[in-house]
Amino acid sequence: MREISLIFAVDTKSNIFVKRLAILASGSGSNAEKIIAHFQHSKKAEIALVATNKADAIVLERAKKYNIPTFTFSRKELDAGLLLQKLQVEHIDWVILAGFLLKIPVELTRAFPDRMVNIHPALLPKYGGKGMYGAHVHEAVKAAKDKETGITIHLVNENYDEGRIVFQASTPLDESDTPDTIAEKVHVLEHKHFAQIIEGLL
Ligand code: GRF
Repeated sequence: MREISLIFAVDTKSNIFVKRLAILASGSGSNAEKIIAHFQHSKKAEIALVATNKADAIVLERAKKYNIPTFTFSRKELDAGLLLQKLQVEHIDWVILAGFLLKIPVELTRAFPDRMVNIHPALLPKYGGKGMYGAHVHEAVKAAKDKETGITIHLVNENYDEGRIVFQASTPLDESDTPDTIAEKVHVLEHKHFAQIIEGLL
């Protein structure tokens, strides 16, 4: 039998195997920072871009601290495809939504099939869908007197909050919890799990 051996010239400095991640966030970006820190010395992935629709979002300061390039865009520019263009120019492999509040245009979800991940601050399918973001979620959980809440990490498809769920974690609640303390408990879970789940997905 003839053996065919393939010889690859491997450029050890090249990082073609390192996945390029873009994080989209609209506010504080505490999750974004955890993810940035997690992948800072990773051989699997690098945070190549932090993009936001808010020119004064704290996430921009967090990104600068780690020398991550940033990109700011308006809702109009998002809808006109400017962000998609930027992600393509930057050769982004995965898009991470970490507190991003605008609706993602269909063209963008289609450009990253099964390569766009969102974190939702509740146990979907409860408290998902239109209007269910940030404090609204925690207020609804409180009003329903739920005994637990949690986080859902899911892939993003054309219907918000309905993509395939890849991870959930829950935390108990008691009567003394307020929307603020619920948010804190949810943040603890998010900071603990999000980056690791992303790494597992890559
Ligand atoms: C998180 O609770 C996330 O689940 C939700 O928005 C919040 C963002 O928090 N989508 P931060 O900006 O990462 O602190």
